[in-house]
Amino acid sequence: MGVKGQFIAFEGCEGSGKTTQIKLLTKILVSKGFDVLATREPGGSPGGEDVRTLLKQGHENRWDGLSEALLLYAARHDHVEKIIKPAIDKGTWVLCDRFSDSSFAYQGFGRGLGLQTLEKLHTLVLGDFFPDLTFIFDIPPQETYERVLRRRSRPGQGGDRFDDMEMAFHQRVYEGYHVIAQKYAHRCAVIQATVSIEAIQENIVGVLEKKFSDSGALKPHV
Ligand code: TMP
Repeated sequence: MGVKGQFIAFEGCEGSGKTTQIKLLTKILVSKGFDVLATREPGGSPGGEDVRTLLKQGHENRWDGLSEALLLYAARHDHVEKIIKPAIDKGTWVLCDRFSDSSFAYQGFGRGLGLQTLEKLHTLVLGDFFPDLTFIFDIPPQETYERVLRRRSRPGQGGDRFDDMEMAFHQRVYEGYHVIAQKYAHRCAVIQATVSIEAIQENIVGVLEKKFSDSGALKPHV
């Protein structure tokens, strides 16, 4: 069997610049000869994208926290089994915009279901499958809230269900990410996201090299 790919998740509050960094890292890895798949959650597979639409549209109270978590894990199971695991098995590096830690932070802390409930659900659906490395973008919740408000007021854009959450929700999500970063320190790296795009990129590449150079995962391409 060939060398497996790595699974890297990008996490953090809204507007923290994850998507830009995924694009930049994709370019870097491709230029070094790696196969890269950039994907996202909720979504990433045709079924997952259908669930994304269900989750994002409609009134804020359309789903309560538990229904939301169950829908997210249904989508995640589909995404993992049909897209992520097959890609890793054939040596592709998978860069995912949000994964389980979003559910831990948003449904566990933001919606108040509790981290333990989400961990149990995770074990039931995915066992011990987690990203090899998770970047948690750190941006103050006040800034997140202001960015969401600006997005919601943009003509034609209007925001979605998740954009209707109040400031206290974003504060809980932010604090949740810090608890997750500490509890899962072996696979999480907190990235200061209020600096320049270039500085964030440099930080990410540094963490990546440190994490994967010993295992040989970055060879022989780099
Ligand atoms: P985005 O991908 O456009 O940022 O929107 C995803 C929204 O869904 C964002 O507000 C975070 C939220 N979300 C959860 O609440 N739980 C999850 O598990 C995931 C993946 C996303």
